[in-house]
Amino acid sequence: MHRKLILGIESSCDDTSAAVICDGVLMSNVIAGQSVHEQYGGVVPELASRAHQQNIIPVVDQAIKQAGIDKSELSAVAFTRGPGLLGSLLVGTSFAKGFSQALNIPLVEVNHLQAHVQAHFISQGDQNEKHPAFPFLCLLVSGGNSQIILVRSHADMEVIGQTIDDAAGEAFDKCAKVMGLPYPGGPHIDRLAQNGNPKAFKFSKPRIPGYNYSFSGLKTSFLYLLRDEMKVNPEFVKENLNDLCASLQETIVDILMIKLKLAAHDLKINQVAVAGGVSANSSLRKAFVDYGMKLGWDVFIPPVAFTTDNAAMIAISGYFKYLNHDFCDLKEVPYARVNNIL
Ligand code: KG4
Repeated sequence: MHRKLILGIESSCDDTSAAVICDGVLMSNVIAGQSVHEQYGGVVPELASRAHQQNIIPVVDQAIKQAGIDKSELSAVAFTRGPGLLGSLLVGTSFAKGFSQALNIPLVEVNHLQAHVQAHFISQGDQNEKHPAFPFLCLLVSGGNSQIILVRSHADMEVIGQTIDDAAGEAFDKCAKVMGLPYPGGPHIDRLAQNGNPKAFKFSKPRIPGYNYSFSGLKTSFLYLLRDEMKVNPEFVKENLNDLCASLQETIVDILMIKLKLAAHDLKINQVAVAGGVSANSSLRKAFVDYGMKLGWDVFIPPVAFTTDNAAMIAISGYFKYLNHDFCDLKEVPYARVNNIL
């Protein structure tokens, strides 16, 4: 039987990535990050698209070489169509279109958020790998999204809850900024929290109905605590940094898990996964293991390499669509946003 070799291309934000998947097994996953944004405290869209233009050809070239294949063997090219930064998406989309035309192979468009969920199906060739069974719930937490997704199949995903304001990653990053930590602050908070007391400070938790999230109240409550305490002691943040990080982290994780637990209970689902950049957080990963043991969930926590933006998840999504002959044509353009039905 013919091997199905899918090239995945990801360029939705500030990582240029290309990966090759062969019959569902990962052969290569190359990522070029963009340090140019660090000095600005956030991603600068115009700089991101320029860096993608510089990186895209060497990254694809390396992904094909590392996979040990020739480009003529590829079965299809899958690319992130959205959501994301339009200028960034355009680079990957245009490249994918040109490459598929040149090789005369099908083009497959991939939704970036669905791809984060599909990362759970990337095989690394290990016999003991465990993948979620349908239907399952996936908590998707990143710098731009906090969603609970009901996953009925590879092609059928529904957002049943989402943030009404900030995303969990934004809550980490914005609170980190007011403490003077570098961008993105999430990983710094995680590291400092290891030596802090999670019960040292109490922050407000939202009371909103259903499976939706809100993080703006927490951000304000954090900001007010710092403002009030620093009036009395200007060294407050410095003296309490670890405890502040640990308490904030515990509150964010609690908020995320309470709604997930509610959804799992209501829908009687015990297959529960986590995805997205914030799923690298050690306390969230631990909470998944603890909840799993307590509530009898089968939990699925991705390897850290698949939590951030990567093309392996685009390639695996492309693989499932390829098997369904779900191709797209050249007139499809990138999109910055999506609605609730993924
Ligand atoms: O999915 P992702 O790479 O891309 C965006 O959506 O932009 O997520 C990035 C987010 C940032 O907010 C970052 O602070 C957060 O993920 N993040 C973390 C950790 N690692 C990354 N947040 C908390 N703890 C971490 N270890």
